[in-house]
Amino acid sequence: MSAYNLFPRFRAQYDVNDQEFSISGILRPQSIDELAPSIALLKESIARVRGTLYVNVKRLTQMNNTAFHAFSRVIIDACRARPDLRFVLVTSSVVGWTTRKFGRLNGIEANITVQEYDSDFYPGQSFLEEGGFIPILRTQTKMTWRHERTILPRHGMQPGIIMADICCGIGDFAVLVQKEFQPSRIVALDHSRSSLAYARSVAAAFDIGGIEYTYGDASEMLLDQDQFDLVTCRHSLQVFNKPELILKELFRICKPGGRVYITNEKNSHCLGEPRADSIQWTYNEVAKLWAHFQMDIELGPKSRRYLVEAGFEDIRVESFVVTNHDGDPQDFADVVAAWENVYAGEMATKRGDPPAFIRRFRQGFQDHIFAALHPKGYAGWPIWVASGRKPL
Ligand SMILES: C[S@@+](CC[C@H](N)C(=O)[O-])C[C@H]1O[C@@H](n2cnc3c(N)ncnc32)[C@H](O)[C@@H]1O
Repeated sequence: MSAYNLFPRFRAQYDVNDQEFSISGILRPQSIDELAPSIALLKESIARVRGTLYVNVKRLTQMNNTAFHAFSRVIIDACRARPDLRFVLVTSSVVGWTTRKFGRLNGIEANITVQEYDSDFYPGQSFLEEGGFIPILRTQTKMTWRHERTILPRHGMQPGIIMADICCGIGDFAVLVQKEFQPSRIVALDHSRSSLAYARSVAAAFDIGGIEYTYGDASEMLLDQDQFDLVTCRHSLQVFNKPELILKELFRICKPGGRVYITNEKNSHCLGEPRADSIQWTYNEVAKLWAHFQMDIELGPKSRRYLVEAGFEDIRVESFVVTNHDGDPQDFADVVAAWENVYAGEMATKRGDPPAFIRRFRQGFQDHIFAALHPKGYAGWPIWVASGRKPL
């Protein structure tokens, strides 16, 4: 990897492994001369690759015409001189202008294509971003909050801190934190426009200020580094096929000495009595179903390893079980019904599961609901909480 630091607000680099040239930050040169080192790096990258060169502009927040024309010229010239080479320009829906601006190059040269970051990048993402999860998240957070409100202070939560909740979903955790702990600032980021719209409407309806709901991609955040005392990311590492990439970003935006707090599940450990076997079978199948879509709903106990490998120290791990006896058993039953709806409905159908499998799969959820609502029953959902400190 070679990297050039030009002006403080702009960075160009080339990654040999990924055959990727990336430019990020704010690129507003007065003259083309200011770009000389990065243009040279782009030319050098082109000279070194065969096949496809990826040009990543996902984190380019601003670019003036001088810079756009200078980079475009090099790419267009290379297309003509090297017809064997393909250019894939990777843009982001978070920085919408990049797709429009760089998209024009495709009309000029056929071997330039533009890929806008979207749900295709994460195989399971469509299930999570399109509204089906909203009822699940709301009741889930209500149930986990009873535990987390006493756990959070052991992981760095305290009044007055600056915090970020990454993959905030519908934002209700941020609201609960705001009410209970009064941080001085909360940035809540998600990639689901429908969830953020919902979050903003709830904050407005409840007259809650101080939460900045932000649209963004957790794997390439436009947030500055080293700025948060506490970064939370709940039930979300488990939805990515490469959780280590998200963790790297959480680490980056956390202040040295601050903490990153994650929660995750191990769904195969969901349990209930009576009808334990049927319940167990279904949740083992849930784990396989998530794995099919490259998500790991078994991640919870792996949190320590992920945090160690990401470079954190002073790692603290604990677990708790949400049960039907924590509050209203109907809440527990509602969450399981919502899981059944998404897992045995949309996801199993998309995997192409046969009707007999789906019937048995659904039965386990129904039995879990039965256990939750039965006067002598017990139903549990285990959660792993972990945090690590970013070294000073
Ligand atoms: C299982 S939900 C958890 C939401 C919330 N933290 C909670 O506990 O209720 C996962 C969230 O990750 C979000 N997400 C998925 N991919 C993302 C990405 N690349 N950038 C930001 N958020 C993303 C989804 O939109 C969804 O809201």
